[in-house]
Amino acid sequence: MSIQQQHTKLTISLFGFGVVGEGLYKVLAQTPSLQASIKKICIKDPEKTRNAPKELFTTNASELLEDDDINVIVELISDADAAFSIVTTALKSRKAVVSANKKLIAEHLEYLLQLQEEAQVPFLYEAAVCASIPVIRNLEEYYDNDLLQSISGIINGSTNYILTKVFEESLDFETALKQAQLAGFAEADPSLDIEGIDAQNKLAILLAHAYGIVTPPETLLCNGIISLNKQDATYAREKGFQIKLVAQAKKLANGTVAAFVLPQFIAPESRLYNVRNEYNGVELESNLADKQFFYGKGAGSYPTASAVLSDLSALRYQYKYEYKKLKYQLPSQLSQDFNLKVYVSFDKLHQVPKDAFVAIQEWSSTDTHCHVTGIIKAATLLQNDWWRNNKTSLILFEIQDDLVSLDNSSDKSSIGELVPIDADFYEVSL
Ligand SMILES: NC(=O)c1ccc[n+]([C@@H]2O[C@H](COP(=O)([O-])OP(=O)(O)OC[C@H]3O[C@@H](n4cnc5c(N)ncnc54)[C@H](OP(=O)(O)O)[C@@H]3O)[C@@H](O)[C@H]2O)c1
Repeated sequence: MSIQQQHTKLTISLFGFGVVGEGLYKVLAQTPSLQASIKKICIKDPEKTRNAPKELFTTNASELLEDDDINVIVELISDADAAFSIVTTALKSRKAVVSANKKLIAEHLEYLLQLQEEAQVPFLYEAAVCASIPVIRNLEEYYDNDLLQSISGIINGSTNYILTKVFEESLDFETALKQAQLAGFAEADPSLDIEGIDAQNKLAILLAHAYGIVTPPETLLCNGIISLNKQDATYAREKGFQIKLVAQAKKLANGTVAAFVLPQFIAPESRLYNVRNEYNGVELESNLADKQFFYGKGAGSYPTASAVLSDLSALRYQYKYEYKKLKYQLPSQLSQDFNLKVYVSFDKLHQVPKDAFVAIQEWSSTDTHCHVTGIIKAATLLQNDWWRNNKTSLILFEIQDDLVSLDNSSDKSSIGELVPIDADFYEVSL
């Protein structure tokens, strides 16, 4: 038998015919070599006009899930709860599944891992993180060793579009958000994006592949761009920075992993500085290979469909994620024991508790606005909410080793050099 003949023929049920689903339908029509055919498409609204033959569509999910001819379910719907039912039913029926639904995957990863183990069928979801950028497959295959030091990236296109408009066109945050919605990059309800939840979900997925860490997304330190204000943009501009929403995971000296999604000042030297509009960029750092940078479209019909197509192509070779860091190595542990150098701005002094900081470097106050820069423990941020309140914003400084340790003697985890705490750092009475 030739290699070609050994490939699995894919008979697909497609769930969803929206931005990504329709994109996939068109892309598949242009790739006959894949030997993949869509037998049926399940949608929600039977009255909508579709750019595909009417007889392909149904609203009856069971019809597709119970069809023995179908060996692949492609789940591209906008409803994460309905998607959970579709994906789990499909896996239990031993059908391979391809999905782009980061919310579903991040929130149920532990259970989905268990189902894959039981059913022994592939569940692929490259499109769920950074759409067209093949970051999951790279982590799975190329970084299946313990050399990966860090991941740092802009992994949410909507917030990056908004922040680009703020910095390049000097728009205020509200106007930039409205433009992002008009351009189709932000949802009518943009909360998942601007509160950082979408990036938090994607980071949770990346952690499983990069470090074998399976954790509910809400355990990850996270804030979006919702509290950023014009004073923050002014401060950044004065220093020559932009502000970007960055997801990061870094291996600390003691082997644990720090992971968080926070707005961050980005200097022009950073590769992330030129990641503009709806684009995504991810920098991976490894002990031996140094830094590698992935750049591409993190959303959109064809870019996202191209990642789904790549997963479908991989299914023909019976490709499965092996979660090597989780199964074949000792998984890393998530750490809360690291320090961050931050800028915190607020409109009333009492909103920021002085004792929340390990050290304060700079303090500035006008009649209406104040800011503090200093060092704060990640655990303090995880355990308190004052820094998320509407009139307070917190932005991480981009320094080479931003998970800073204050001294050698304590058990604080550190990577790289120590940040000197000397006359530059002083405490002020707030
Ligand atoms: N858009 C992107 O750039 C992008 C990038 C990466 C990942 N994703 C992910 O891809 C998935 C699809 O996104 P999208 O942008 O294509 O969404 P979309 O344009 O809003 O389309 C959603 C589709 O899902 C269908 N649908 C909703 N609930 C359903 C249900 N209960 N049963 C069957 N069909 C249902 C809708 O049916 P009707 O047509 O009848 O309304 C529609 O066809 C989401 O998980 C999203 O997070 C999107």
